[in-house]
Amino acid sequence: MNEIQSLRGTVDILPPQSSLWNEVERKVREHFERYGYENIRTPIIEQSELFMRSIGEDTDIVEKEMYTFSDRKGRSVTLRPEGTACVVRAALQHELLGQKIRKFYYMGPMFRYERPQAGRQRQFHQLGVEMFGTYSPLADAETISMMVRLFEMLGLKGVSVNINTLGDKESLEKYRGVLRERARANFDKFCPDCQRRLERNVLRLLDCKVPSCQEIFKNDLPSIKDCLSDEAKLHYETVLKTLDDMGISYVEKPQLVRGLDYYTHTIFEVTHNSLGSQDALGGGGRYNDLVESMGGSPTGAVGFAIGEERLMIALAAIKKAEESVPATDLFMVSMDEEAIEENLVLSDALRTLGVSVAVLPEKASVKSQFRQANASMSPYVLIRGGDERAKGVWNLKDMKNSTQREVTKEEALAFFKEKIK
Ligand code: HAM
Repeated sequence: MNEIQSLRGTVDILPPQSSLWNEVERKVREHFERYGYENIRTPIIEQSELFMRSIGEDTDIVEKEMYTFSDRKGRSVTLRPEGTACVVRAALQHELLGQKIRKFYYMGPMFRYERPQAGRQRQFHQLGVEMFGTYSPLADAETISMMVRLFEMLGLKGVSVNINTLGDKESLEKYRGVLRERARANFDKFCPDCQRRLERNVLRLLDCKVPSCQEIFKNDLPSIKDCLSDEAKLHYETVLKTLDDMGISYVEKPQLVRGLDYYTHTIFEVTHNSLGSQDALGGGGRYNDLVESMGGSPTGAVGFAIGEERLMIALAAIKKAEESVPATDLFMVSMDEEAIEENLVLSDALRTLGVSVAVLPEKASVKSQFRQANASMSPYVLIRGGDERAKGVWNLKDMKNSTQREVTKEEALAFFKEKIK
């Protein structure tokens, strides 16, 4: 075995799973583009301050999970733990936000120093979207429905949508007060992190991962609904009504707060029963204050991110990947050494037409080539040997009905051009 191994919490995505990843990403890209989202690609490394200011200094992500280090000039840099802050930074830097609504999607690796377990890695991948330039609750509903329809399109059943609101600044301030008071009364029962966060950022107490902390509010959680301003209430009710009208089911979860500080109003998380304790397939919400707090003009925004590894687990990735070894349109068999080069030349011409071809560039027994041709699931096999060479043809075998006929190079090109139309 190799002495050098991949780092703990990082994973190689190997064939055949990698082709399933490509396939899912292609479908997801098409889905997002159907809703008017444009692709954005930001660097995976950013100034640390970006995440401290946006995600929040008291969050688990910033306090415990970031890959932060000094570069060679002593500047603090961080491997991105999420995409929202990066997209906001890029949108401001390149002045992409103005009068129009802008919609961006991204796919790529994120990094969090967490304890690895099934569905939780240190390098993982997100499929994310961010919409800027609207405060409308209908945009929240559209965003949630886009996520739900995405899972449906991928054939994933058993998804649950959990939803809550944090209201506006005024509502949230009021709620924080109520929560703080309740938490102070239980101060001794909280873990040291929660005790420290109680005065600074009491909302974080609700997503503490320590089981004994989770118990404290379990049956006695003050409801944010009692603290909502009329406007915030109307916003939330409109989101729920629109989801009802779209036929999207959801569960209201008053204890849902999300692990990042930038949210306002609607927040949501999608879970799947196949995922065990790490059951969040994706999450997101509205973040109306983030753009302004990063130096831009006030801009309504909403988005979500899906964990790609978890999506693959939910899709029973391994089983499906094995079933879907990518079939090429054609497998070429070389009966003698001369045929290897002849096949290679013809495969080049076929590929320029868009035909996918499997051909071995070196000598192999005819038996082994046919075994590979069968395994490749290619519907056709082209065979070249001494007999064919003498006649200036290839034998074209239709694998489905086991028929065979001779074709010239030109006929082969015309045949496959027609087939892949
Ligand atoms: P998040 O809830 O922190 O939200 O992450 C989104 C999803 O990424 C999670 O639901 C989960 O599926 C996946 N994920 C997170 N951490 C890990 C991990 N260590 N290993 C595997 N998967 C993981 C955000 O990141 C927000 N930026 C979402 C958003 C976009 N909000 C608004 N716009």
